[in-house]
Amino acid sequence: MTIFRGTVLDTPEGDAPGGIRLRADSDAGLLVTDGTIVERGPFADVAARHPHEPVVDLSDGLVLPGLVDAHVHYPQVRTIGALGMPLLDWLEKSALPEEARLGEPAYAADVAREFVQGLVSAGTTTALVFGSHFAPAVESLFDEAARVGLRVTSGLVVSDRALPAPLLTTAERAHAESLALAQRWHGRGRLRYAVTPRFSLSASEAVLASCAAVMTEVPGVWFTTHANENVVEVDEVARLFPNARDYVDTYDHHGLLGPRSVLAHNVHATAPELAMLGSRGASVAHCPTSNSALGSGLFPLRAHVEHGVRVAVGSDVGAGTGFSLFKEGLQAYFVQQLLGARGLPLTAPDLLHLVTRAGALALGLGETVGDLGVGKAFDAVWVRPLPGDPLEVGLRHASSAEDAVAKTFALACSPDVAGVWVAGDRVKAG
Ligand code: GUN
Ligand code: ZN
Repeated sequence: MTIFRGTVLDTPEGDAPGGIRLRADSDAGLLVTDGTIVERGPFADVAARHPHEPVVDLSDGLVLPGLVDAHVHYPQVRTIGALGMPLLDWLEKSALPEEARLGEPAYAADVAREFVQGLVSAGTTTALVFGSHFAPAVESLFDEAARVGLRVTSGLVVSDRALPAPLLTTAERAHAESLALAQRWHGRGRLRYAVTPRFSLSASEAVLASCAAVMTEVPGVWFTTHANENVVEVDEVARLFPNARDYVDTYDHHGLLGPRSVLAHNVHATAPELAMLGSRGASVAHCPTSNSALGSGLFPLRAHVEHGVRVAVGSDVGAGTGFSLFKEGLQAYFVQQLLGARGLPLTAPDLLHLVTRAGALALGLGETVGDLGVGKAFDAVWVRPLPGDPLEVGLRHASSAEDAVAKTFALACSPDVAGVWVAGDRVKAG
């Protein structure tokens, strides 16, 4: 057993942003056994009850739940920062040429290491990861996530049109390769499989049907894709699916939407689409820096919440501008401010909720991670800026725990993440 000592902040209640309450315990003690928090209380009390257990002292700085990234692309780690293009140009000129390079297994293995390192250094302990179009590259990602110990849900990306030829497959091959990967990796340790058509623009009815088949054949797998990101993309999907009611319906028609489905972006959703997502219990990954960098649009968070659609946050590396979910939270806040009366004003506890518990709920892991309460895994981030750093100054002068969280979202970068734990094991030191 180990006692972790520090100022522990989390958001264990509520399931939608807007009025989330912060639970703040200064000088708390968390007693952790076999990776699970078994006691939480004032440090003095926990230490008095367990005088012989080792103490990990994190009192300098803040202890937060491990961050949850609901949408991030493994093959795009080397392409972060290609600015100035809308979605379809950016795919053609930046993302897809790089994705084709992962056909070379040694290249993919290097990228997998860089990608997992990027997650860990930002404090991300759980992620729904858009995989690669190449099965051996997906194997490399799962291997690396298992080696480091992260909670990763991912899968083979499948498409049979509108992309460069090396990235295309057939419905039959998509089915066979996805099935084999799902059977090998789903439920292995902290890993799970996600059926992943890239988007309806690049996936025919036959490929979408093959995705549905895998979901039936391997019970419990996840589903992730893109939807309603960019107006040109939305028009093209309408042209390609003349019988579909709307973009969301192109997936729903194949039975792909349910509580284990996560759609990225959904910036341009209509009211019927939101109602459909809400009724299916599906989630949306809001990707704030990506939407801003590609000029995709201002995310209608209020409409999602009003339709009962669960929203989490994704970094969307590499259209997103980095792995930091603090930066994503801040950008989510900016966007709602810019929407004025149509926006949903976000507080600092709302932001913490969006990058922790909301992600855990969207990924069906709300019983295991997302907060630091008794019974949860000790998946944690230690934010400890260096002396004199503006964040360190800010935290020293914070007027309240909420203020400390706001300052963290405003100022924290990956170097301020001094330690990261998954199930009690340290995956980032110093
Ligand atoms: N739509 C289809 N593929 C992608 C991608 O790689 N990134 C983003 N942001 N949108 C997509
Ligand atoms: Zn994406």
